[in-house]
Amino acid sequence: MREVTVLVDATDYKIRVKSLVESLGMAMIKNMNIDSNDELVELSHFMGNLQAPFAEDLKEQVEDGFVYRVTSTASSSKRAISQTNKEFLLHTDGTKSNVVPDFIALMMIKPAISGGQSVFLDSWSVLSNFTDSELQGILSLSYQTRFGKRKILEVKGDRFQIKFNPYELAKELNPSLTITGDLDVGNAFNEQPLISQLCRIFSTSGKCLKYYLSPGDCIILDNRRILHGRTAFHGTRLLKRVWIQGQAE
Ligand SMILES: [Fe+2]
Repeated sequence: MREVTVLVDATDYKIRVKSLVESLGMAMIKNMNIDSNDELVELSHFMGNLQAPFAEDLKEQVEDGFVYRVTSTASSSKRAISQTNKEFLLHTDGTKSNVVPDFIALMMIKPAISGGQSVFLDSWSVLSNFTDSELQGILSLSYQTRFGKRKILEVKGDRFQIKFNPYELAKELNPSLTITGDLDVGNAFNEQPLISQLCRIFSTSGKCLKYYLSPGDCIILDNRRILHGRTAFHGTRLLKRVWIQGQAE
């Protein structure tokens, strides 16, 4: 993946961000104002319609109706992996929400003391390495959600669209599972070798972009194409996140 940085004070920065997201799947904006949500919301609006956070998210974590505070810290009592300081494997957001976000904006407010590197991977660059029969197998995989079945991989026009969250998949295969720590991929998917293979290929791909985000760094990514995750860390870490519905394609 190529570097994709735009300065917030650059001329027409929002147009440049949108075109980078369209062509490469993501863009990083430097120097965003972290003292208010205004710039984050304005940029998100430029990408599409803001989407209220998933109902399971805690209400007190939501600002201005659309900006979700991803507060992560060391605690074994947290129910979501995003709220812990553990590694969060590559995934897409909202795989089980009623409306899956097309785009995600992630703005760093307070980085961890150490660790907590953000990791991004263009699924298209990885999918091109699968054989046709492997791709057919992946195209047949699906999630059961309360809104019906949802495919992991689909072809829309000439593009792949991926919905992939290994934790949700593991929970589906073992409903009694509560995952707030490291996911044993080999064990969780021993009866689903294709999913296990996907996880392994994603996690060992040399094509990931890795950043230690600084305060004011903001990533906009296409959630149908770019997987995101983070490494384990010490201390607490605060990101703000907006889910966005883009224009119909
Ligand atoms: Fe996420």
